Parts: sequence; structure tokens; C-alpha cells
Amino acid sequence: MQKSRLRLGVNVDHVATLRNARGGAVPDPVRAALLAVEAGADGITAHLREDRRHIIDGDIDRLMAALTVPLNFEMAATPDMQAIALRHKPHAVCIVPEKRAERTTEGGLDVAGNDNALAAYIAPLRDAGCRVSLFIAADEAQINAAHRIGAPVIELHSGAYADAWAAGDWAMRDAELQKITEMTSYATDLGLEVHVGHGLTYDCVTPIAALPQVAELNIGHFLIGESVFLGLGPAIAEMRRLMDAARA
Ligand code: PXP
Repeated sequence: MQKSRLRLGVNVDHVATLRNARGGAVPDPVRAALLAVEAGADGITAHLREDRRHIIDGDIDRLMAALTVPLNFEMAATPDMQAIALRHKPHAVCIVPEKRAERTTEGGLDVAGNDNALAAYIAPLRDAGCRVSLFIAADEAQINAAHRIGAPVIELHSGAYADAWAAGDWAMRDAELQKITEMTSYATDLGLEVHVGHGLTYDCVTPIAALPQVAELNIGHFLIGESVFLGLGPAIAEMRRLMDAARA
């Protein structure tokens, strides 16, 4: 089987986190996005949270104007966010669960428990031409529900896998990797496109990148952190190299 190139989406949220720590204009997430593309990113991901703690509305306006690669717009399933997405019509919309108190997106979306509401929610986004993705756990019931409501793409949450790796819990790491492996095949057989994201690092990316059916990885926090030491371009280029080596 010809292996397809694994796409890298670089999430620039935490460039905005750093900017917002001082409330000014720098560092600019749009500048980071353009550099990321030069360094090998196939797309840019940005999460407009309801509390605007990192990316703000003006960043989305500027990303839409500046980017020549797809923007993956992450958002909670709220009416306000739907209106913003419909105004911009980004290439992709990734629906994520959002809790105000969480530091980051902690779990996957409960599609199985909300399928009627989510089906109605994503329909206008699909009609507007956005590729709708649902951020879910590697769980058969959630995948079945995503398929049932007509989402073309799912993104599997790799947070537990990455946490197990960081903690040196190899039994948990292997169990999480097995779930992601099996559920990637299961979802692909249903006709869904599979992305994976959250918590991925140089250490733990290879086994995920090696899964031939995974179409895209979305990586943010680690890359922005690593760029403090290496510079953003080299940090991304190293991730790209590891992903390509895993696919070779
Ligand atoms: N994918 C989704 C759906 C996310 O919500 C996030 C975090 O915003 C990421 C990928 C990137 O995760 P990280 O910043 O841990 O690499």
C-alpha cells in the first residue's frame, strides 16, 4: 500500500497565551503561523475559547486573511462560535468540549450522548463547506455516533497516551496506544478521516505517526515550548522529520 504523507497541523494558541500574559501585541500568533508553514506545517490550528484566554477574535480575522494553508478552527459547540465559524468559513472546524475551569481540553466530546443536538449543530457548518471534525476519545460508541451524525472527520484525543508516556507508565501507554490503533482502523473502515492530537511530543509521536491510516496530527503546546530553546522553525522541522521517519 502506498503510504500517504501525514499532515502536521501546528496549533498556535500558546503563542497567544504568551502575548496575553502582557496584554500587548507580541509575540504574534499570526507571525508564528506563517513561520510554521515555512517550517513544514500543512495547516494551522487555533482554538477560540469562550473566555478568549489565548486566541482572540482578531487573531482569527488575521489568520483567515494571511494563511495560504488550511485553518483548522477549534471551538465549542455554542451558538456564538457557530456564528463566527459561519462568518469565516474556515477550511475545517473541530468541535471540542470546553469547560471554563480546565487548563486545556481535558476529555473528548460526548457525541454518543448528544447526537441529535450535534447533528443539527454541524449541519450548517457542513453546508457552508467547512470540513467538520469531532474531538473524541478513542471509543467505539463515540466513533459510531460521529459516523451516524455525518461528521467526515474525527480527531482522537491522545492526552492519556501522552500523559502515560511522560509518567513512564508503560502499561498504560501501551493500552492507550492499542486503543488509538484499533479505533483508527475501526473509524477508517467506517469511512471517517482520522486525526490525532493533544500532548504529542518528540518522545511519543513516533508510534502514532506510524499508524498508516492517520491523516493528520495537531500539535501545539510542546512545539511552542520547544521553540524557546530551538526556535520555532527548527522545533517544527524536527517534529516533521520524526513524523516522516515514522511513515517511511
Ligand atoms: N487537538 C485538539 C482538538 C486540541 O484541543 C488541542 C489543544 O488545544 C490540540 C490538538 C493540541 O494539543 P497540544 O497543545 O497538547 O499539542
